[in-house]
Amino acid sequence: MLDQNKTPLFSALKKHWESSPLSGHVPGHKFGTVFPAEASGYFEDILKLDATEITGLDDLHDSEGIIEEAQRLAADLYRAKETFFLVNGSTVGNLAMIMGTCSRGSKVLVQRNCHKSILNGLELAGAEPVFLSCEVDERLGVAVSIKPNQLQEALETVDGIEAVILTNPNYYGVAMRLDELVTIIHSYNLPVLVDEAHGAHFILGKPFPKSALASGADVVVQSAHKTLPAMTMASFLHVQGDRVKNKRIAHYLKMLQSSSPSYPLMASLDIARYYLASMHEQEVRDLYDDITDIHQVIGKIEGVEVVVPKSGLQVDPLKLTLRSTTGLTGFELQQLLEKEGLFVELADPQNVLIVLPLAVNDKKHDMIERIARALLGQTKDGKEKGRLIIPPFPVEISRLAIPFSEQHDYEVVKCSLEDAVGEVAAEPVIPYPPGIPLLFKGERITRSTLEYIEVLENHGARFQGSEWLKSNYMYIYKKEKE
Ligand SMILES: Cc1ncc(COP(=O)(O)O)c(C=O)c1O
Repeated sequence: MLDQNKTPLFSALKKHWESSPLSGHVPGHKFGTVFPAEASGYFEDILKLDATEITGLDDLHDSEGIIEEAQRLAADLYRAKETFFLVNGSTVGNLAMIMGTCSRGSKVLVQRNCHKSILNGLELAGAEPVFLSCEVDERLGVAVSIKPNQLQEALETVDGIEAVILTNPNYYGVAMRLDELVTIIHSYNLPVLVDEAHGAHFILGKPFPKSALASGADVVVQSAHKTLPAMTMASFLHVQGDRVKNKRIAHYLKMLQSSSPSYPLMASLDIARYYLASMHEQEVRDLYDDITDIHQVIGKIEGVEVVVPKSGLQVDPLKLTLRSTTGLTGFELQQLLEKEGLFVELADPQNVLIVLPLAVNDKKHDMIERIARALLGQTKDGKEKGRLIIPPFPVEISRLAIPFSEQHDYEVVKCSLEDAVGEVAAEPVIPYPPGIPLLFKGERITRSTLEYIEVLENHGARFQGSEWLKSNYMYIYKKEKE
């Protein structure tokens, strides 16, 4: 192992600033000396690190110095063949991962509950997605895992598959049995690309779920900023094995990332890697004890419960899902918590999700007290009113009826829901819960998808970006007249 106590990028930036350099280069704030006084108190320390590609400070797109060393240290810690620093989130990582792996016209198996950057990547690459549906956890009410038998069926029956894209864990921290899925996919000698946006800390080992790299994935993208002490957007892309070409991914990263990548962001990746590397087993155990404590104390607060998935799948301990036991929806619970100054990651019709810090939390008592105060005086009516029973998902293995490349040839028109059966959706329909896109743009609308929309609407699910559904119409593609 390399010396993980080193922070080559952060240290070089610090040393450069301490040498009292005179900036004759961009950026225009000149290490913070040209800045409005009322803001400089908040920005000044960061601006000291906000340098550019000058002598000695390397270049992300042609790295051979401190950035190369910082990336090598990250690869060493994650046991990857190569690690790339990303300054535009997992979003750019997913785009480059797909464009660097999937060729135009190729078929790619994709877990349905994926982030929009996966779809965008497939569209840019000109690849054809074949979607795999997901199982919904009965208790949590959200999508948790693809089905291994359906994966196997798709691998057997769909010709010309070039790669498989998985998302693990889901937003609520629930992890699939990834190593089983990777073994199945590798038995067809296909690369496994994993969006592990929420799992950059999984290499800490137990009690965290098994990391995608340890499970054998070929390319892994992680939003370091989501769970590690890294600045927003700072992310990693790791490659291992020989199934994919690192150079091809590097080529697309050069095209997709800024030619002036932020040094504070990159330095925060160097620091996040160092932070992770210096966490000892005892610290991880203390952190877990701390989280167990939080669960136990919250368990004693009236009116709220910690939600644990029924499926028995492992959950990231940093993700704390709470639900009212007195009939409040997740959105109502969120409002009560916000009145107490506790801002959560997200709310859905049933749950609120809190992301805990990767450190023993000296704020834990404060958090627990605020949760208890928020729930004081709640009237106990309609027990379990917020509970949503999600019917079985109506779509199994599915493909686009109109490929991305042809969608521009169509006009987008409004269509009433009753006339939509057999038409092709021009907008995605994503109900929350279960958070699985029911329709992607380009997919054929069936009677069962419309029935599913109705059932979910009656249960109070929300449809992301589809306000028009409430007025009983949707947007479809119609061939433009020649
Ligand atoms: C599963 C998943 N993948 C990718 C992303 C995009 O990550 P980023 O915000 O780092 O671009 C998100 C963002 O929430 C996500 O949840």
